[in-house]
Amino acid sequence: MRHRAIAGWNRRTFPTGWFQVAWSPELEPGQLAARRYWGRDLVVWRSESGAVHLMEAHEGRRGLDLTRWGQVEGESIRCILDGWQWQPDGTARDDTGAAVDVGALRSFPAVEISGLVLAWYDENGDPPSWSVEGGEEATSPDYYPAWPHGAVLDLMSCQPQVMAENIADVVHVRYAHRWLDIPTITEWDDSSPRLEVGYEGNFPSPRGPVHAVFHNTAWGFGVMRTSMTSIRKFVHYICPTPIDHTMMDVRLSAWVERAPDDTGDRPDSIAAALIRAQRDEVLGPNVDRSIWENQAYMEQPAFRSQERQYVQFRRWCAQFYPHEPRPQRAASR
Ligand code: FES
Ligand SMILES: [Fe+2]
Repeated sequence: MRHRAIAGWNRRTFPTGWFQVAWSPELEPGQLAARRYWGRDLVVWRSESGAVHLMEAHEGRRGLDLTRWGQVEGESIRCILDGWQWQPDGTARDDTGAAVDVGALRSFPAVEISGLVLAWYDENGDPPSWSVEGGEEATSPDYYPAWPHGAVLDLMSCQPQVMAENIADVVHVRYAHRWLDIPTITEWDDSSPRLEVGYEGNFPSPRGPVHAVFHNTAWGFGVMRTSMTSIRKFVHYICPTPIDHTMMDVRLSAWVERAPDDTGDRPDSIAAALIRAQRDEVLGPNVDRSIWENQAYMEQPAFRSQERQYVQFRRWCAQFYPHEPRPQRAASR
């Protein structure tokens, strides 16, 4: 895997939005875990009352790593070297409980939606300006739960926007994903940070062509939900979170419609096969991963007429880089 700059990728800031940093069941009350995103070491934790939080991991007095030298106690993280308590907003109290004025840690708003722990990132620390809504799959008994059998974490050398462009790329569905035709876009709404795209088409199966109807919802680049109806109803989240400007974590979460009369949480063989197939298309070596990890980023590709949605998609993307410095013009003489 490439661990080097993405050719042509000149952004200096990370996109604004909600990004997944954990699955809810990974954090019991009182638990914390280390993460590294947006070029920073972070601690994600759940207070004893059950609230999730994300903040910088190196405390502001001596720089200790709270993922190693901290313990969740009540609603704060207590440093086990000197007893200071770090609050969810990144401020500290000393071992007597008095507020102390040392550099506050940067904290990130965190929420839980459909069992995904999402954190809001804005380059300048601006507060959330939109939200993510969960779907019925997370609570409906008609679906196998995504955790743990439908959940997977992987590392990818890419940036979230490049991955999100998959939604606009109906041509690659025909050729890279081997459908029988280029899917028809039936819905396109990019009027808000939540993009809604519907398309349908036919893919081959051993038992003949299967008609599939897809609906994609993207909340920025961090949370992308696909619901599809073919053999079974299937809902799939792809959540990329940038580690730095070259690498990102990718979390996939899949909810598949239960087999009739199955009350267990382990997907049956058809559901498991659907999860595997979807995972292979995204993370396997030959299809989406290979496109995303190896392509150079082009600001102005030569789009074909069938790729016109891509142009609209790129316009929609600009809103997630509100703090991007303007490109430097070459000095004129
Ligand atoms: S040593 Fe810094 S808070 Fe404990
Ligand atoms: Fe794809």
